[in-house]
Amino acid sequence: MQRQIQLEIVRELMRQLDERVNIDSGVQYKNPTSVYTDPVLATREWEQFFKHHPQMIGLSGDLPEPGSFLTLNDFGVPIIATRAEDGRFRAFLNACRHRGVRVAGEGRGEANAFTCPFHNWTYSNEGDLIGIPREHDVGRIDKSCNGLVALPAEERYGLLWVHPVPEGQLDVDSLLGGLADELSRMAYGDMVYMGESTLSCDLNWKLANDTFGETYHFPRLHRQTLGKLFYGDALHYTEFGRNHRFVWPLKGIDEFRNRPEAEWSYEHATGSLYYLFPNVQLGGGTRSCSVIKIYPDGENPGRSITKVGHYATREVIDANVAQQAEVATDDVYDLERRQRGFSLQASQEVFRSTIEQEDYLMGETTQKAAESGVMPFVQFGRNEPALHHYHNTFRAVLGMEPMERI
Ligand code: FES
Ligand SMILES: [Fe+2]
Repeated sequence: MQRQIQLEIVRELMRQLDERVNIDSGVQYKNPTSVYTDPVLATREWEQFFKHHPQMIGLSGDLPEPGSFLTLNDFGVPIIATRAEDGRFRAFLNACRHRGVRVAGEGRGEANAFTCPFHNWTYSNEGDLIGIPREHDVGRIDKSCNGLVALPAEERYGLLWVHPVPEGQLDVDSLLGGLADELSRMAYGDMVYMGESTLSCDLNWKLANDTFGETYHFPRLHRQTLGKLFYGDALHYTEFGRNHRFVWPLKGIDEFRNRPEAEWSYEHATGSLYYLFPNVQLGGGTRSCSVIKIYPDGENPGRSITKVGHYATREVIDANVAQQAEVATDDVYDLERRQRGFSLQASQEVFRSTIEQEDYLMGETTQKAAESGVMPFVQFGRNEPALHHYHNTFRAVLGMEPMERI
């Protein structure tokens, strides 16, 4: 991100903290609870936002070497993603051209070829069909047109994108809606994959997403956890097409108050999320980051699955290994101790469990209220513009009217 923009953001967050005001979008909305429960809407979302829409599946570090592969089954089209000898990222339907069986098992690893477990047809990591046992018995199969079904795949700014439709258009810059330049200045391409957690919860995928849409709850719900590190009730928020940048103050912002702007560290003063339509929250991005991907559980409106991926630069990982011996998990929320060094793994685990045990628990109770049918709408305040934007964007894409203003 350009320094100019960083300074503007930090100034604005200091102003909000000084004046004890949060961002003010000037508008409040009613959001019908049916959007969290309606099976017809859930089917439309699944088809339009997932099965037929480009997906950001991870970072370059998810395929670290030539020969790396990754399988995914999150959005209705089973995928094998590979990095072949030529370094290129490719994506295929994870299905054998013989009888459609999954060729690569779940997970990630190293493989230059994939052998289908059923009858052992074999494919290279460039997708070519390279082996058929007892081919003379099978009959004539033209290998040149029976490779794995290729899907549009692009690696940009350290992010991996796939279109689940073979003839789909994948234009990453246009999907990013003006964020490309900013993301290209981050270190997503240098991030090393450190692990992923899966949260399978009883809440609509949009309710899960909503928990990343305001800082109003930070000092309340997260009082004993993340709230010790962050200030809530303050937000710098900018939309980029269907996406947005969401920045809030870390308590470390205070150390810059009496120092010249040239000494301000954006990284120590702020936390940030980039929301990428329809379902990704990208946290951090210069030294370490989290990729949060939120999926409906198929067409079931009452359930969702969140994948939280953790990454850090090699430099941060190495420094962290050196420090870890003397740092305990409890220190994650101790600001002073944290500045001296903290366990990256512990920090990531706490982040994951905060989402699961604090944010998503709230959403699960909202889901119950919505399913009761007794509460026709929830309300979004003037201080919750990201929620206005998500929901009005989802609605616009599906051809629905915007939410009703209060
Ligand atoms: S289904 Fe894959 S080899 Fe037969
Ligand atoms: Fe939260």
